[in-house]
Amino acid sequence: MKFFIDTANLDQIKEAQELGVLDGVTTNPSLMHKEGISGHDNILKHYSKICEIVDGDVSAEVTATDFDGMVKQGEELAALHDQIVVKIPMIEDGVKALKYFSDKGIRTNCTLIFSAGQALLAAKAGATYVSPFIGRLDDISTDGLNLIAEIRMIFDNYAYETEILAASIRHTMHIIDCAKLGADVMTGGLDSIKGLLKHPLTDIGLEKFLADFNAGQNA
Ligand code: E4P
Repeated sequence: MKFFIDTANLDQIKEAQELGVLDGVTTNPSLMHKEGISGHDNILKHYSKICEIVDGDVSAEVTATDFDGMVKQGEELAALHDQIVVKIPMIEDGVKALKYFSDKGIRTNCTLIFSAGQALLAAKAGATYVSPFIGRLDDISTDGLNLIAEIRMIFDNYAYETEILAASIRHTMHIIDCAKLGADVMTGGLDSIKGLLKHPLTDIGLEKFLADFNAGQNA
């Protein structure tokens, strides 16, 4: 399973990179806004900074909603760095843009996926990744994990190469459940990734090992 961090915060991206398990970064306009990044040039510069920190894919989202606008913005983003993956919303012109970029060999991440049908359409249009938002489905009392299972079955049935990027991860158990269901990638916050480290028996065990080691040194 690939691990992406879902943030535009450079310190958190560095911390995840230093942990040695980071495969990429996802951003969206809300995450960029949260970091106070605005304006065309500043946004492009920020994506370049992220690409300098990580080795893997960096999803950069278009904000146009018409085909021509998405193509213009996506081509500009893709030209920025070979790690950039153009993030396209699941709307009608977005599907056309996915096909356009796929034909040109530009990698894409189809975002705002909330149904298996949307994922199937994006895969047929040649998306590199689909991003089902499991947390936002959970938020409305719908089983987000079930969507991951449905998409996995459909993609396996037809050997689609499009990768399932489980997004809107809210906590560590989401990561484990998505791994069990065969999601190719998960994107979550630093806390959800670092939550995988934790087990009270590890802490208790280490404390005992160190206490016994120190007792031996002092004997
Ligand atoms: C990632 O690509 C998505 O934009 C992100 O995971 C959405 O997460 P949220 O539902 O926590 O905003």
